[in-house]
Amino acid sequence: MSITQKLATSISSSSSSFLAPSNFSSRRQNVSLPTKSVSIPKCVATPQEAQTAYKTRVSRNENMAKLQAGYLFPEIARRRSAHLLKYPDAKVISLGIGDTTEPIPEVITSAMAKRAHALSTIEGYSGYGAEQGEKPVRSAIASTFYSDLGIEIDDIFVSDGAKCDISRLQMLFGSNVKMAVQDPSYPAYVDSSVIMGQTGPYLKDVEKYGNIEYMRCNPENGFFPDLSTISRPDIVFFCSPNNPTGAAATREQLTQLVQYAKDNGSVIVYDSAYAIYISGDNPRSIFEIPGAKEVAIETSSFSKYAGFTGVRLGWTVVPKRLLFSGGFPVAKDFNRIVCTTFNGASNISQAGGLACLSPEGLQAMQEVVGFYKENTNIIVGTFESLGFKVYGGKNAPYVWVHFPGRSSWDVFSEILEKTHVVTTPGSGFGPGGEGFIRVSAFGHRENILEACRRFKELYR
Ligand SMILES: Cc1ncc(COP(=O)(O)O)c(C=O)c1O
Repeated sequence: MSITQKLATSISSSSSSFLAPSNFSSRRQNVSLPTKSVSIPKCVATPQEAQTAYKTRVSRNENMAKLQAGYLFPEIARRRSAHLLKYPDAKVISLGIGDTTEPIPEVITSAMAKRAHALSTIEGYSGYGAEQGEKPVRSAIASTFYSDLGIEIDDIFVSDGAKCDISRLQMLFGSNVKMAVQDPSYPAYVDSSVIMGQTGPYLKDVEKYGNIEYMRCNPENGFFPDLSTISRPDIVFFCSPNNPTGAAATREQLTQLVQYAKDNGSVIVYDSAYAIYISGDNPRSIFEIPGAKEVAIETSSFSKYAGFTGVRLGWTVVPKRLLFSGGFPVAKDFNRIVCTTFNGASNISQAGGLACLSPEGLQAMQEVVGFYKENTNIIVGTFESLGFKVYGGKNAPYVWVHFPGRSSWDVFSEILEKTHVVTTPGSGFGPGGEGFIRVSAFGHRENILEACRRFKELYR
């Protein structure tokens, strides 16, 4: 693997467009130490290469061709690389990617180490496990996150992460559904929908794909869409707390959403990957809402709960009461998809997941989350002291800063040029993100403080 490829694969929180070559900094540090030899990667074959290259007779998947690869993250990477060429000694701080930075508490890693060592013994060795996950892990997820919500152990499918489950869910629904997404939202929902063939082509003038309902979420509507304006979708992807806006839906809003799904016969795919960051009494699960078990699936993850972005462990809840129009249980089909496409989460990761859900593990996870929340407060405080309108942050590790009337790419460039800090332009999460930038609170404290010092210098 070339260094460019290695760096490109270190980027998370992304759409498939992250796979394009990039020069993003390493995962371990969100400060990169630039070298003079950094070059801007070429994203396309040169004409000469194209002429001489051997071609198969297999045509490209037309859905892949619809993707706007190179739109957001490769463009960020290209600009960052150019920045490093221009300022080779700059101490670039990356608050753009949304990857965790703090070490995993030892109570969790020691359980993984123990499980790994046991694999070297006759008694402790295990091979393929259940595709749906180990029973104790499913049971601990049910009792920790869904106690009193009527979710049973066999409603839970343990996985290698929420992003992978989002694609499995798209496979479950197939290509003949219409979906709705919050605008802005985590790009994997839209990209996986495009890849499945659910959409029309990308419409450049409106920056949207055909046959997707973009549900605008902005400060004016409290980051909750006006559902009366949405034409009936089959599947509603809804993320709360939301990436990138950081907004957590209230109980009343989620009650409206569940009612909307019921009235329209739609299925909600609820992404609660950041629920552990909720400070107030906003629901942490869609299943807190009465009736949700008939209309909703929930996907979640240990990635941002316990720094498992590299370890990989997540889960999806598909209640038995959720039925297709013909009465067939959705969970049965999802089980079939899981058994066909997946051979179970790593047994070592599952040992880690189980340790996360022990009393000591839960306490340790909360401490790391608390650390990131302190980072968030520092970032929010900085932008507020500079007079910006700032959203998110309270219930999520993302701060959504408003630059009214400005292009988010221009703001991204201004910040990079003048402070050497990488953020994410809001428009990369959908047209509704224009005029905002997302600042991630995942970072070592000294980097967060330094980035904020630079923001103050720039905007005071
Ligand atoms: C909203 C949301 N869902 C899912 C994921 C991916 O989670 P995982 O690491 O479990 O695949 C992310 C990652 O950034 C995310 O922001």
